[in-house]
Amino acid sequence: MSVTPRRPPPRTAIPIAAGTALLAGCGGGQNVLRPESPQQERISDLFWVMFAGSLIGLGVVAAFLLLGWLRRNRRGAPGGGDEGAGNAIVVVLGVAVPIVVLSALFWYSDLRTIDATAAPAAGSTELQVEVTGHQWFWEVRYPGTEAVTANEVHIPARANVELVAKSSDVVHSFWVPRLNRKIDMIPGHPNRILLYADEPGVYRGRCSEFCGLQHANMQLFVVAQPPAEFQRWLAHMRETAAQPAGSDATRGRQVFLEGACAGCHTIRGTTADGTLGPDLTHLGSRTTLAAGTLPNTKGDLAAWVLDPHQAKPGNRMPRLKLPDEDFQDLIAYLETLR
Ligand code: CUA
Repeated sequence: MSVTPRRPPPRTAIPIAAGTALLAGCGGGQNVLRPESPQQERISDLFWVMFAGSLIGLGVVAAFLLLGWLRRNRRGAPGGGDEGAGNAIVVVLGVAVPIVVLSALFWYSDLRTIDATAAPAAGSTELQVEVTGHQWFWEVRYPGTEAVTANEVHIPARANVELVAKSSDVVHSFWVPRLNRKIDMIPGHPNRILLYADEPGVYRGRCSEFCGLQHANMQLFVVAQPPAEFQRWLAHMRETAAQPAGSDATRGRQVFLEGACAGCHTIRGTTADGTLGPDLTHLGSRTTLAAGTLPNTKGDLAAWVLDPHQAKPGNRMPRLKLPDEDFQDLIAYLETLR
């Protein structure tokens, strides 16, 4: 029996695929050059200034190379010309100009931009959010409230929010490219950064420090809401989980509490108080599963629980081998956690 070999893709497919990826990745929700906060505007300005500066530098060097080449060809032999003028050019363009340009860029980048994007003084903002990096998800808490969620940081739009960045295991880095610079999450050393969004919207972010096998699947969303909507969301997040209605979901809760799930996850209002995995009290209110890896639909949730290592190999959630009825009830229960 013969096997038909898979044909390689046509050559044009590669540039098209690369172009599409560029459009999706760089033109979309994580474009640092589409700022949505005063802080990111400064960072974006810095990029353009550096880019323009490097273009001018490249232009000057290329012009001198061209000039040298033309003069050398015209005179016919190397070594001719005015040596004093040559030395002056080296001193001015090789020493004086770089000192002036690099000092100006240092002032512009380090002093002006770093100050403008710095963290607010501790406790100076009305709202504080604590985000803890885990391999591989984000735990999100609102100090002073019982609210806990994962992978989605809700904030009121047009308000200064102090974000405290922590880690429970290795070094991660919190980065939402359209809002502000990155901040490292170092175990035992909380860092702070300002989070501010000009407009309500969803801003995509990701972990920006290699933290293990699923670093690429450690995504997050900052959801900026009108203040009243944010307050309603926060009040809902503070509530404990709803009692399941229906026999399937009630049995599913028993499966959750008596099985392995409760050892790693918390569902507030039940006896489940594990802290290794994300808090699931309001699991259904989130748009994705596994830190942006899957959309949060019933089918994806079932696939995730059935085999978490299919979508996210190496993650800490074990593959449970539940009898089919228990599995169905468990999914029915998880679906009630809204
Ligand atoms: Cu967390 Cu990379």
